[in-house]
Amino acid sequence: MDSIVVQGGGELNGQIQISGAKNTCLKLMSAALLTDEPLTLTNVPRLSDIKTLGTLLESLGCEVAMLNDGQVMALSGREITNRKADYEIVRKLRASFNVLGPLLARENEAIVSLPGGCAIGARAVDLHIKALETLGATIELDGGYVHAKAPNGLTGAVIEFPFVSVGATENAVTAATLAKGTTVIKNAAREPDTVDLIKCLVAMGAKIEGAGTSTLTIEGVDHLHGATHEVIADRIELGTFMVAPAICGGSVELLGGRLDLIGAFVERLDAAGINVTETDGGLLVARRGDVVKAADVTTAPFPGYPTDLQAQFMAMMCTAEGTSTLEETIFENRFMHAPELIRMGAKIDVDGNTAKVTGVEQLNGARVMATDLRASASLILAGLRAKGETVVSRVYHLDRGYEKIEEKLRGVGANIERISE
Ligand code: EPZ
Repeated sequence: MDSIVVQGGGELNGQIQISGAKNTCLKLMSAALLTDEPLTLTNVPRLSDIKTLGTLLESLGCEVAMLNDGQVMALSGREITNRKADYEIVRKLRASFNVLGPLLARENEAIVSLPGGCAIGARAVDLHIKALETLGATIELDGGYVHAKAPNGLTGAVIEFPFVSVGATENAVTAATLAKGTTVIKNAAREPDTVDLIKCLVAMGAKIEGAGTSTLTIEGVDHLHGATHEVIADRIELGTFMVAPAICGGSVELLGGRLDLIGAFVERLDAAGINVTETDGGLLVARRGDVVKAADVTTAPFPGYPTDLQAQFMAMMCTAEGTSTLEETIFENRFMHAPELIRMGAKIDVDGNTAKVTGVEQLNGARVMATDLRASASLILAGLRAKGETVVSRVYHLDRGYEKIEEKLRGVGANIERISE
């Protein structure tokens, strides 16, 4: 199994190119099931999660071709040959549950394995199911599978989510594109990922208004056609690399980075004493002074502070001046990086969904274990700042969501390599 070895210390300077967004690309790929014409995606990130979903789509009859060294994906759902998304694949990747909406809308039937919980929380799918039932589907749970049927097609309706769910909004909006009549989704996700998915659906002929707001109105159409769509920049990869020069010092330009992708994150960086400046090519990040200041964070749906950047901010707070409070409101078990950071000398007290971090002058390299994707990134960031060697094991988590992370960090001066143990 691979591990990442980081020798800490030293400033970071230079440029990092931000890749296409993993979470957006996964949902865009599932949208290919909505049409019998080709959907071509560009700026595709080369990640294991993308391959896994490609395998699932192939199992449903979709043709998936990778072109241009994997950065372009040509999808063709000309004929759906199978309506069942198997447990063996869905269990590996929760985002595969988002084939449910498109498959049901196109085929009037879909059987998709329940994804199950994951390390960061139980992650129910009740809102997804309720939304599709509201559109007229009959849903039965059988043997760990969701069996959804709508023999006469889906019908537009008003769906009001009790709280924001990115995945449920995306399943509902994709399903509604082919429903009869008008669907209104209230309390919809406003994440840039959802907005990009809607942009692609519109390019495919869908009629959707309100992208980026809490209310989406979808006028169902008879069929969608093919399109070519460029995947937006990955805002979580962007935020992760913005933390790197903040922790280590130096100045790094994130090419392709945009302020509108990261909501409250920039304001919290500012509170921590980090300057972010827009450049022609992206965003330039540098610390204002010698030290990072303690700043509090409460995660929230977009445009609030992203849960997917909570672990990275915690890594930065470990050596900040003062005590910060980090509150996680989206997932119930997303502080698994804390015990690992404590192994490196951090002072962190976790109490339920709140972590208090008191900055120390120095972290020390240690052997630590990655527990999920963003936790892995936080351990690498801490390792870059720590004295001595940090070895992060179980980096397969990292490979799910960060394209060429060692190469990108080495490019700005980090001492980081991958080893097989
Ligand atoms: C998406 O997950 C992202 N994944 C996550 O990124 C991200 O952390 C999350 O949105 C929040 O921004 C993908 O897009 C593939 P939710 P999703 O539905 O859609 C609860 C990463 O590191 N909930 O918005 O699954 C749920 O348990 C990942 O890249 C229900 O209770 O998140 C959570 O507490 C991890 N019932 C909250 O809502 C439901 O039916 C928000 O989850 C659905 C969700």
